Amino acid sequence: MILRKKKKPASSEKIKKAEPEKAKPVASEKPLSAKAKESENFIKTGIEGFDGLIEKGIPKGSAILIAGGAGSGKTIMCLQILAHAAKNGKKGFYMSFEESESRLRKHMEDFGWNATEYEKKGNLVIKRMSSYEIARAVEGLLAKERGELLIDLEPILLPDNYKPDLVVIDSLSAIASYFMGKTGQYRSYVEQLFRYFERMGTTSFMIAETKQIPEVFSPTGVEEFLADGVVVLYNIRKGDIRENAIEILKLRGTKHVKKIVAMQIVDNQGIAVYPDQEVFGGL
Ligand SMILES: Nc1ncnc2c1ncn2[C@@H]1O[C@H](COP(=O)(O)OP(=O)(O)OP(=O)(O)O)[C@@H](O)[C@H]1O
Ligand SMILES: [Mg+2]
Repeated sequence: MILRKKKKPASSEKIKKAEPEKAKPVASEKPLSAKAKESENFIKTGIEGFDGLIEKGIPKGSAILIAGGAGSGKTIMCLQILAHAAKNGKKGFYMSFEESESRLRKHMEDFGWNATEYEKKGNLVIKRMSSYEIARAVEGLLAKERGELLIDLEPILLPDNYKPDLVVIDSLSAIASYFMGKTGQYRSYVEQLFRYFERMGTTSFMIAETKQIPEVFSPTGVEEFLADGVVVLYNIRKGDIRENAIEILKLRGTKHVKKIVAMQIVDNQGIAVYPDQEVFGGL
């Protein structure tokens, strides 16, 4: 079931309390500014049906793991979130370790999201990072073993003076494979990333490749505990066909629906979630 929005009486009570104070226009603005404040602290993805699964929105500054099997829609979901943010004047940063910038741009344009325009306006940066750049960041980490090393990461990770509201890392699995068995190093790197974005107040979406029906949601199984939220994308086989589904496994700081619900990747639109369509069987 979809979470119900707050009932009207609550807000009309606020209006009543505010009215006797003085001039009416000021009084009627009060509940609005409270609402605006709340919306400042939470992020909407703009994904049809998905935002309705979460009571308030994704708390700003959270680290969210987007986990799922091959072709389950992780990249599209994150591009869609950044497109929505860019349309609303926010700044997004897509850090890709896999697909090239031009392919990601093309991907966005296939769904009707004008990547080039967002980039021109300064609302989107897509950057493909190489193993070499990861290596430099890791060297920075190793050089300073204390917390201050976060400052050293900045010029490597972000373009000059670009302070994004949202960041996507595609993917943690690619970073993990670079470390090849050095699990300890990888974990400390990822932990630094989480903290770094949290400090900046940037909401981060970290993509993790999993099995189609995952039991573990990240490369080492620890990231899901570090993360504030975990969203799982499924590509479930039912007989001869595969169906997409989505689940919010956890999300700190807000209530959310705890169900696996149907999802579709729609041409020219992107991801659409159907909150009332539960997915049975096959899991
Ligand atoms: N234009 C489109 N219209 C509808 N569906 C599409 C379109 N483009 C891609 N898809 C579907 O989306 C799937 C890929 O989505 P996406 O690239 O986001 O998956 P992913 O989880 O990031 O995959 P990977 O693990 O390979 O990176 C494709 O397999 C295809 O089924
Ligand atoms: Mg992908």
